[in-house]
Amino acid sequence: MKFFVDTAEIDAIAELHALGMVDGVTTNPSLIKKSGRDILEVTKEICDLVDGPVSAEVTATDADQMIAEGRKLAEIAENIAVKVPLTWDGLKACKVLTDEGKMVNVTLCFSANQALLAAKAGATFISPFIGRLDDIALDGMELIEDIRVVYDNYGFTTEILAASIRSVNHVLDCARIGADVMTAPPAVIKAMVNHPLTDKGLDAFLADIKAANIKIL
Ligand code: E4P
Repeated sequence: MKFFVDTAEIDAIAELHALGMVDGVTTNPSLIKKSGRDILEVTKEICDLVDGPVSAEVTATDADQMIAEGRKLAEIAENIAVKVPLTWDGLKACKVLTDEGKMVNVTLCFSANQALLAAKAGATFISPFIGRLDDIALDGMELIEDIRVVYDNYGFTTEILAASIRSVNHVLDCARIGADVMTAPPAVIKAMVNHPLTDKGLDAFLADIKAANIKIL
């Protein structure tokens, strides 16, 4: 499973990147706003740091403008994935940009039928939003399962990029289902290391190291 980091905070990306945890990065307008940075500048910095796909989202809603913005974003670096919303205009932009050889991430996916359309339009990535479905008492993980089945039935190569991940359990469930990629905030990725028995075990070992004066260096 590939790990993308869902943030536009350079320091947070760099910290996880140093540990080999960053296969790519996703951003969206809300994350750019939160960073307080210019979209083109911060996206360039992220692309300089990370080799894998870096998703940058268009701001327009009509296909022609999305295509123009997508071309501009793709000029930033070769690893840009242009992010477009799952609308007919977004799908039109996806087809044009994909045909030009650019990576496209179709975002705001909330149904398997939408994911089917994105695959047919040639999307590199489909971003189903788990947390936002859970927020309205639907089952986000069921959507990941459905898309996996539909894509496997027909051999679509569009990668399932599980998004809107809010917990470590979301990550594990996506891995069990076989999502190709998950994108999560840095805090969720960092929380994956936590286990009370690891802490308890380490405390016991440290006590014995002290009691027996065990030294290596
Ligand atoms: C990533 O591509 C998405 O934009 C992001 O995961 C959305 O997450 P949220 O629903 O927590 O805002």
